[in-house]
Amino acid sequence: MKRNFINIIFLVLITTIVTPPPLTFARRTKTTIQNVGFKPLDALHNNPTLKAFIENVLTKRYTNWGLPANLVKYIFATLEKYRNNPEQARQRVYAETIDFETNTDWQEAYNRYKSATKYTTTFSQIEQVLGSLPIGATVVDVGCGNNILGKEIAINNPKISIIGTDTYDYHEEHGLSNLNFLQQSSPFDIPIGEESVDVIILNATLHHVSPEEIGEFLNELSRILKPGGKVILVEDTWSENIPFKTEESDIELTNEFLSLVEQYGEDFAKEYLIFNDWYSNIVVHQWDGMAMPYNFHSMESWQTIFQNQGFTTSETLFFGFLKQTFHKPSVGIIVFTN
Ligand SMILES: C[S@@+](CC[C@H](N)C(=O)[O-])C[C@H]1O[C@@H](n2cnc3c(N)ncnc32)[C@H](O)[C@@H]1O
Repeated sequence: MKRNFINIIFLVLITTIVTPPPLTFARRTKTTIQNVGFKPLDALHNNPTLKAFIENVLTKRYTNWGLPANLVKYIFATLEKYRNNPEQARQRVYAETIDFETNTDWQEAYNRYKSATKYTTTFSQIEQVLGSLPIGATVVDVGCGNNILGKEIAINNPKISIIGTDTYDYHEEHGLSNLNFLQQSSPFDIPIGEESVDVIILNATLHHVSPEEIGEFLNELSRILKPGGKVILVEDTWSENIPFKTEESDIELTNEFLSLVEQYGEDFAKEYLIFNDWYSNIVVHQWDGMAMPYNFHSMESWQTIFQNQGFTTSETLFFGFLKQTFHKPSVGIIVFTN
């Protein structure tokens, strides 16, 4: 009852804002958006089925975490109004619809999600791979972001050393002696010695590496990995023929997504993932220093890319849409051996 009341107040507020709050984009630098054939906002007007699908996914997630059912509709209306200029579109979302940085209902919903589930499913799969590592092993999370996944691993594996690296430094200090952060000076220059790493984790990192740089990036991973070392690739992806693990997934949403990809082709998946990547990283979180080449591939295509660089596939796990997430789209994990 109380929640319903709060939701109504929130909805009234976001729909009746007359004087937009002052915009503060202090952390903004320059975002690199490379040309992959689609622009982020194409997804909302190229194909009405795609727009309806995205709206349905986000609404399902937002209401699940206690946000109003109409919020996505309002956000999309603003984005579409300024669809020819993505930068202006996102600024107008803050001015006309919702300021993600200051809105307390939004912050509370996001924090609930973060503390409850952010890494649950992927984390347990990563833990299974790490379970066989000897005392003193080294794990590197390349593209670690705020280093929260490293924190979970470090707490659960006190005898393993975890290093998070990233080209863009927004890491948080977690005060753990077996967790460190190193900033990379370039996308394919990881400041770690040759053949010294047991496992590399790429958690939603690889779609931020451009197609032109991916070969050099994978060579760099081979350089730091011990022979027989592993790469755990966690990606926003889809699969043409790997069945998804139904016990972990939102079955209805995953089936709908896969049948739409079959009907409209893989561009449907790419356009959706591009929109979602831009919306979550740039519109909601304003992580503007992040490279955004939107390099999305199917599970099968990632395997070909890695195999061409000399890796072999050890395991494939396709989840599709997980049950309890916020902006995470369809995901999969592939474990490669060097
Ligand atoms: C979507 S974020 C994921 C962050 C973190 N792994 C997580 O799951 O919360 C992608 C991250 O990859 C980083 N990144 C992109 N290209 C990179 C590269 N070539 N080397 C290292 N980090 C990279 C970005 O700066 C960003 O922090």
